[in-house]
Amino acid sequence: MKGKYIMAKIPEWQYDEFKHCGVDFSNPNEVERYQNTHQQMRDFRRETLDMIKLIGITKKDTVIDFGCGTGAFVFNAADKCGKIHAVDVSKAMLGFCQKKCKEAKISNVKFHRAGFLTYEHKTKPVDVIISKLALHHLPDFWKLVALKRMASMLKKGGKFYLSDVVYSFKVNALKNAVQQWIRKTSAKGQSDFKRRIEIHIGQEFSTTNWIMEGLLKQAGFKILKAEYKDGFFATYLCKKN
Ligand SMILES: C[S@@+](CC[C@H](N)C(=O)[O-])C[C@H]1O[C@@H](n2cnc3c(N)ncnc32)[C@H](O)[C@@H]1O
Repeated sequence: MKGKYIMAKIPEWQYDEFKHCGVDFSNPNEVERYQNTHQQMRDFRRETLDMIKLIGITKKDTVIDFGCGTGAFVFNAADKCGKIHAVDVSKAMLGFCQKKCKEAKISNVKFHRAGFLTYEHKTKPVDVIISKLALHHLPDFWKLVALKRMASMLKKGGKFYLSDVVYSFKVNALKNAVQQWIRKTSAKGQSDFKRRIEIHIGQEFSTTNWIMEGLLKQAGFKILKAEYKDGFFATYLCKKN
């Protein structure tokens, strides 16, 4: 549901990014589940430090994290950046991230309940924008709108890091590819993930690698590095032209 403030500002025809597709991140129960399962599968600190190194983030940099969720990046990057704007459409996810930061006495993070299509960046262009596992919530046309909006918030030469579920397997091999993805996550003891993967494929808007590369270029980014993993995951390091 669009918030009152947002409703007044955005046209009726705009895609409603506050209506969650697939997994409902507005549900407080989902927050706890997400944090617990992802904490088991991922090393948040390690992946954040790797991102910081790859992007070249310094303490002078201002960073925006779109779709910050429970704070995998924000929480672990706060002491390595000048300032972070944490943006998420889910009050529950953002609230969890905010609480964690408050408990750790982190004071250089500003929280914004907004999204790719509705966040208004009111201060000067930033050095870095990152987004992890979030852009696939928008259909492709709206991904382009979102990418163009993000490019407009970045300073010239600024870096954009995108990591998401992006399909690079052969479409003819769809069934096998999905089964393999499910088998791989189940082998890691994540039985709950079978349903998550089914929801992701059937209801969310992950796109193909060649479409994603085209969208990034159309939005005014130069792709410095593109990495594809297991047919389902992509990481892009881009620079604003
Ligand atoms: C799978 S979680 C990823 C969270 C975090 N980035 C991470 O790496 O763990 C996706 C997050 O994107 C948020 N989200 C969904 N649609 C969004 C949008 N249009 N704009 C911003 N955030 C969005 C969800 O509320 C959720 O917190």
